[in-house]
Formats: sequence, structure tokens, C-alpha cells
Amino acid sequence: MTPAPGRLLRTRISGVGRYLPERVLTNHDLERMVETSNEWIVERSGIRERRIAADDESSGTMGARAAEEALASAGLRGSDIDLVIGATCTPDGMFPATATVIQDAIGAGRASSFDVNAACTGFLTALSVGSQFVASGSARRVLVAGSETLSRVVDWTDRGTCVLFGDGAGAVVLEPAADGEPGGLASPVLRSDGALGDLLYARGPASARSGAGAASGVPAAGDNGADPLRAVASCIVMDGRNVFRHAITAMTEAAQACLAGAGLEASDIALCMPHQANVRILSAFARNLELSEDRVYMNLERYGNTSAASIPIALAEAVAEGRLAAGDRVLMVAFGGGFTWGATVVEWSGVREPERLSAVPGPLPSTAPPP
Ligand code: ACO
Repeated sequence: MTPAPGRLLRTRISGVGRYLPERVLTNHDLERMVETSNEWIVERSGIRERRIAADDESSGTMGARAAEEALASAGLRGSDIDLVIGATCTPDGMFPATATVIQDAIGAGRASSFDVNAACTGFLTALSVGSQFVASGSARRVLVAGSETLSRVVDWTDRGTCVLFGDGAGAVVLEPAADGEPGGLASPVLRSDGALGDLLYARGPASARSGAGAASGVPAAGDNGADPLRAVASCIVMDGRNVFRHAITAMTEAAQACLAGAGLEASDIALCMPHQANVRILSAFARNLELSEDRVYMNLERYGNTSAASIPIALAEAVAEGRLAAGDRVLMVAFGGGFTWGATVVEWSGVREPERLSAVPGPLPSTAPPP
């Protein structure tokens, strides 16, 4: 389907899927690893447990499992896909792209593939890019997979970060919406501010060893310096308090700009699907937007922060739970390292075969909400 000149197609999400590795790491397990407590982690973050990838799993393999579920729920096969976009900051390697690993694993032999890295805003960025391929008619069916293996870049001796992150993958299939059918991404807002890069970063094998890279606050690989957080090269380094502060402001501003651009009010939103970082960040954001908390989807108590995977995992769980109806407006909003942030509104169109989605686990035994 190629749009008439000057006319863009509307994109619908026709399939969703997720994959979470089997191994569960609870807060009580972490109590045996670093000086922390279940109570502290639950009160400060809302997280109770997270998943950890097995040795033979990676962002590529987990992304492929999520992609297979997304294809099944869309009633499609890998060979139907024209383009695979991977959103990850923990790729299988520097190259090939994780999207290319996924493309091969799902048998998308006709598809091109590439990765997007915008840290925790990666999925929203990839969704926006994929949607534009569909809207322009350049690709008819696009698979977008957010997949992260953060357990391999966490410093397991740093209690300030290791309690927050987890592994997993989520995926969506994008297709053109037919006339009269719900669908469309309204007013995507994507922003970044590289001057805030040193609030949250992980070095890579090709990082600068001196000069501008080092001057920006990013230490050279192997440079232990005076800061114990810098002892482990390539691990996540975070200024938690400042990330917290910027996250609330950034998510609020992005959501407000997105709603204004789409001519919508917060009251028009059926369900908000935020990046799952911290329950206190999400509660403050919901208050700023005057969104009641029952309209803000949260599953971070079970999975922690899975970066670019968190929104598609949450979306797949919300669909499996029957939380969305055709025509609902879903506000997606994220922030992440970079600093990057963004928001978009998706008009929900429903997936073709929701019964193909795996069941969502029940609530955790201790359901006391964090204060
Ligand atoms: N257990 C026990 N105590 C801890 C722990 C822990 N796991 N971690 C830190 N503390 C201590 C600190 O050392 C500090 O002690 P001190 O007062 O003696 O110095 C005290 O707890 C308070 O520390 P704060 O950093 O002020 O705690 P805060 O209430 O800010 O919570 C947290 C910390 C949870 C990290 C919070 O700042 C936060 O969530 N920030 C945003 C993190 C985030 O969302 N990151 C990812 C964003 S982007 C992306 O997704 C990649």
C-alpha cells in the first residue's frame, strides 16, 4: 500500500509480545549480595523482584522470543515483515545489530534491520521511526523489539544501581490502519540533552580514553579513580537523585507537549504506559498530569527497570489482561540516559489474536503498596 503523494498512512499496532527470562532475583536475594533491605528497595523504588537472563540468553535471543509472540498475536509470520528495528542499549555485540540477530531468528528473510539506541527512550524512538516507515509506504509491516540484558552491565557491588535493573524484551508489529479503523501515533515528541550525559551512562569498548570523552565526566575504561562507582568499566554509573529530579520534569513536559500537539487532554487518555523506572517517579508524574493512578500501568514491582524493553513488556501485559479496547488512547512516555525523553499517544486498534499472548503472572504475595 503506497499512500497518495502528500498523504501519510496511519499506523496501527497489530501485534504485541514479550519475553521474560525465567530466573527471578528477589530483593531478599539482593540482601545477601549488598548492604540493602527489601523494605528500602520497595519504599524507594517499588521494585520487589527482577528477571535475570540465563547464560545462553542475550538481547537478541530474548528480542526474538518477544518478536515471535508479537507475530503470533498479529497473525503473521517472520516472512511477512519488511523491517526489524531493535531498541537496545545492551546489544549482543557492537555489530551485527541486535535487530539483525532477531531478523534471522524469526525468519524475516525479506526484512532490513537496524538498531536504535536512545537508552530507556529507545522503544519510543524506534516506534516513531517504524511508524514513519509505515506512514510513508516505505515498509508495510515493521517489527519493533525493545530488548535489554542490563544484568551484564550492572555493577553488582553498587547498591545504588544494582537493585533497580532487570532483563527482558517486548515487541510490537506495525501495519497501516485501514480507512475507518482505529490507529495512528499522534504527535510524537522526542527530545535529548547530551549535556546531561554524565547523570547516567555506561562506557563501551570504543569510548575515548582521554580528551573530550573523559572531560565530559565519562572516565576511561579501567580508570578506577577515587569513585568506587567507576571501578567497573562499562557498568552503569548513575547520579540517582538528579536522574530522579530530571525524570519527573522531562516526562511531565514531554507528555504535556504531546497532548497539546494532539489536541488532547489528560482526561482523554484511557491508559498511560510509562517507562517503568521507579514508582515514586511515576506517581509524581501522574500527579503533575492529574492522571489517576489506576490509569497509569505499572508492573515494575515484578521486573524492575528493563530500559527500552519496559514499555513494550507493559503494553503486552496490559493487552493480555484485557486492559485496552479498540479506540482507547494510550499515552506512552519515557526518559533515559543521554539524557533522552519523549512521549506519544497511540490510538489502540486491538491485536488480531490476543489469545496467542502468554498469561500475566498473578500479583506477588506481599501486595502492600510502597508508602
Ligand atoms: N539500600 C539501602 N540504602 C541505599 C541503597 C540501597 N539499595 N542505595 C542507596 N542507599 C542509601 C544511600 O547510600 C543514601 O545513604 P546516605 O544518606 O547515608 O548517603 C541513602 O540510601 C539515600 O540515598 P538517595 O540516593 O538519596 O536515595 P533516593 O531516595 O534518591 O533513592 C534511587 C535512590 C532509588 C536510586 C532514586 O534516586 C531513583 O530512583 N533515581 C532514579 C533512578 C532511575 O530511574 N534510573 C534509571 C533512569 S533511566 C534508565 O532507565 C536507564
